[in-house]
Amino acid sequence: MTSEQVQKFQKNFPSILVNEPMNKHTNIRIGGVAKLYLVAVDIDELIDAMEMATKENIPFYIFGGGSNMLVSDDGYQGLMIQIGFREIKVREKTIIADSGAITSAIARQSVAEDLEGLEWAGSLPGTIGGAIYGNSGCWGGEMKDVVVTVDAIRLSDMKRVVYTNAECKFDYRDSIFKHEPHVILRATLGLKTTADSLAVKARMEEYFTKRKETQPFIESSAGCMFKNFIYKDESELDRLKNSVKEIPLEMLAKKSISAGWLVSQIGMKGERIGDAEISDKHGNFIVNLGNARAQDVLMLTSKAKMKIRDQYNIMLEDEIELVGF
Ligand code: EPU
Repeated sequence: MTSEQVQKFQKNFPSILVNEPMNKHTNIRIGGVAKLYLVAVDIDELIDAMEMATKENIPFYIFGGGSNMLVSDDGYQGLMIQIGFREIKVREKTIIADSGAITSAIARQSVAEDLEGLEWAGSLPGTIGGAIYGNSGCWGGEMKDVVVTVDAIRLSDMKRVVYTNAECKFDYRDSIFKHEPHVILRATLGLKTTADSLAVKARMEEYFTKRKETQPFIESSAGCMFKNFIYKDESELDRLKNSVKEIPLEMLAKKSISAGWLVSQIGMKGERIGDAEISDKHGNFIVNLGNARAQDVLMLTSKAKMKIRDQYNIMLEDEIELVGF
């Protein structure tokens, strides 16, 4: 990017930052500098920034909360845009949320308004746009259960589109947005009214306690590093069955083997490279003990993947988004 291009952006977007360290904006506190960094305060500013980047032939990357991403130590040589519009409106049983709204804030507001259906997300990190993109879920809930429509810009033709739930093609940690580039702008969520809001609130707090008990919560991390291993046929588990004493029944029932459990089976919990450490609490999390580099995280995840592949013939897939590699 030339200095003339940087100046052009500065002129058009006075709040834009140059050489902004991404470790300030990611939950795992890792990442080199983004050449340009803009918090888009509304849809118009977002569109203007994308259009200018396209015209100048500068790559752009759009993110919400920085909860599920690992940015390279070399940073990002383009325009990093954070969604900065975060309005949440509650209309009876419907929530209309800007994509930059914090998912846990939406969940907490919905519970306060005597609604149920999103209480599982009361401690989910990140924004609703990110949660829809990855069909986030925990404690039995998933975004696909509450999304009614999603408003987005399809980047292939820059058209505004509104997708129904079915058109979002949700699957385990998957949606159309992972396969066809879009920017999610807004979502409509459908919840139910509850006659027992105290019970819903208690459920939300129970999930929060569970998260703190079973996952690193205060430490810096990017959430789960790998997707769980979903299998169709038990023959895919032959090597695993021969190697471990027993596979927990709950996983067999769901046909989903916890990646964290697999990491614990290969004895890698607590393993450390630099300041990156596989959490002792949950094997699917890598925590940054202070000055971890993206490189350290990738070395740890590669090692875990290779060991699991070699020992159990299971190839784990990344859940986190890699940026700038
Ligand atoms: N387990 C271990 N050791 C570990 C981790 C898990 O033995 O290090 C065992 C647990 O004891 C339990 C089983 O594995 O018997 C399942 O563990 P857990 O309930 O923690 O669920 P998970 O399948 O490992 C998933 C999601 C999490 C979500 C939790 C809770 C994925 C990749 N992970 O983890 O989501 O919070 O369930 O519902 O789907 C995320 O997607 O970023 C994420 C953290």
